[in-house]
Amino acid sequence: MNPSTYKKLVSTAFTTDFRKAAEVVETPFLEPGPGEVVVKNVYAGVNATDVNITAGRYDPGASPPFDLGAEAVGVIAAVGSAVTHVKEDDAVVTFNLGGGYREYNLLPARHAIPIAEPSPVALTVVVSGLTASIALDVLGRMGQDETVLITAAAGGTGQYAVQLAKRAGNHVVGTCGTPEKAEFLQSLGCDRVINYRQENVKQVLRDEYPDGIDLIYESVGGALFDTCVRALALRGRLIIIGFISEYVEGPQPVRQPRIYAHLLMKSASLCAFFLPHFSTYYREHARHLFQLIDEGKLHVAIDPTEFHGLDAVTDAVEYLHSGQSIGKIVVRL
Ligand SMILES: NC(=O)c1ccc[n+]([C@@H]2O[C@H](COP(=O)([O-])OP(=O)(O)OC[C@H]3O[C@@H](n4cnc5c(N)ncnc54)[C@H](OP(=O)(O)O)[C@@H]3O)[C@@H](O)[C@H]2O)c1
Repeated sequence: MNPSTYKKLVSTAFTTDFRKAAEVVETPFLEPGPGEVVVKNVYAGVNATDVNITAGRYDPGASPPFDLGAEAVGVIAAVGSAVTHVKEDDAVVTFNLGGGYREYNLLPARHAIPIAEPSPVALTVVVSGLTASIALDVLGRMGQDETVLITAAAGGTGQYAVQLAKRAGNHVVGTCGTPEKAEFLQSLGCDRVINYRQENVKQVLRDEYPDGIDLIYESVGGALFDTCVRALALRGRLIIIGFISEYVEGPQPVRQPRIYAHLLMKSASLCAFFLPHFSTYYREHARHLFQLIDEGKLHVAIDPTEFHGLDAVTDAVEYLHSGQSIGKIVVRL
């Protein structure tokens, strides 16, 4: 029996201060129409970009209040007509803006992917995993026997990038900010771990990789982005995945030579990746990632800190931005 109302988290103001923006509200349970399903969420994924979402950067036309969260796993609670690939009580993973931080999620059935059980690991595939897999493959044109650098390597998406680059037969360098993360990255097979609080990244890259880095998966931005650009090899590629160091305060102005001065003489390239623009690749890459996980060839870490209920989402987002987490952070709903 489904309830007549349920709780969801909304942003009540345009701000990167998630605590200030987020509010739990009660909303009516709506029955699914043709081609729709309602999913009872069990776990929701926490993302660095949650603070960009509260700030309204994802949908400049929207006005508060608007729904928060993205990916989730859960079980089908209600099925509309003309839906054939799932039935009530089936486990599914979903990914729709505003679909994560809520107890029930009404969405087009085609966006509900059947899975074996609503586990945190399954949840990591649709944002963290797909971002690494599609970006490295499609934009990075990742081959083998190259040097690949991953920043924020021990994070939700970084851990995927490290393992996929390693599996492809590359030398993998990963940056992180704590000794625990360094140990974790070594356990994933990262060839050179740089704890940027203990070593100077620029110096390490200059000394140990004089020929430069072929492919860079860059999520941090700021000074580390500048270091990465300068470290590119001849015909190197840098994929801009994010710039978490400037999400809260916003992008800072810089005064330095234009970026082409660093790229042209190396025929190096910069490209940017935003997952929703690559939806045509979802199915193929998700299938591959689920297969690697099932076969035990890909190990996905879930941060052990427990967060329960919508009231705990703010703590989880702040924990992510504290830089302490290892792997993916999830909230149990
Ligand atoms: N483009 C896309 O479609 C897409 C999709 C998913 C994620 N992303 C991006 O990927 C990046 C990682 O996201 P995630 O959700 O997986 O988070 P995450 O990596 O699990 O957590 C963020 C990590 O960033 C690192 N970091 C470095 N400088 C930081 C700073 N100044 N403040 C806070 N953290 C800092 C921290 O690790 P260390 O200190 O150990 O480096 C921290 O643990 C973000 O830039 C995110 O926007 C982009």
